[in-house]
Amino acid sequence: MIKKIVLASNNPGKVREIGQLLADLDIEVVPQSDYNIPEVEETGLTFVENAILKARHAAEYSKLPALADDSGIEVDALMGAPGIYSARFAGVGATDTENLQKLISDLQALNEPTRTARFQCLMVLMAHPSDPTPLICQGTWEGEIIDTPKGDNGFGYDPVFYLPEQQCTSAELPADKKNALSHRGKALSCLLKKLSNK
Ligand code: IMP
Repeated sequence: MIKKIVLASNNPGKVREIGQLLADLDIEVVPQSDYNIPEVEETGLTFVENAILKARHAAEYSKLPALADDSGIEVDALMGAPGIYSARFAGVGATDTENLQKLISDLQALNEPTRTARFQCLMVLMAHPSDPTPLICQGTWEGEIIDTPKGDNGFGYDPVFYLPEQQCTSAELPADKKNALSHRGKALSCLLKKLSNK
């Protein structure tokens, strides 16, 4: 049974949420910053390829099993963009606010766009860098994009991701509620089930 894993992310929002989601487990989760692991270039063309690249890289450096999340938002009116490019939508090194403003202005440039969108999360656990059977799970969260950001919780595109059933954005949800509903929460609970069956 795995006792300690490295979390292959330097995104503070993700590290916080994954830490909360794994808090009750008997597994020690250490962020890759503890091992001075440099960022790996995300050269994949799919979420799953990028998640595997990140997990393999962190497992190589840390010599520990590694958990990676590759995630992003798909907007129907933008043909699925920004998708895997969500973190760098407004350019490499762009801030969350710059990415979100670009999303708002790209939608405003369209005539009465469809507002539907979804967050995707691909979660990968690799036991070691050459693990030929990584555990892979996907979580999806449906919502709509609004023009005016609302809420201070979460990170990234949360302030413009409106949830009709909750009547608020994901940035207005308390952390535990977001974790219970989110793409990341769903992917991680699927992964934990697979892990307990291993
Ligand atoms: P990655 O680090 O390449 O996986 O990029 C993920 C990007 O997708 C983040 O930087 C955010 O812009 C966006 N994203 C993923 N999950 C969330 C979320 O839960 N809320 C808001 N934005 C998210």
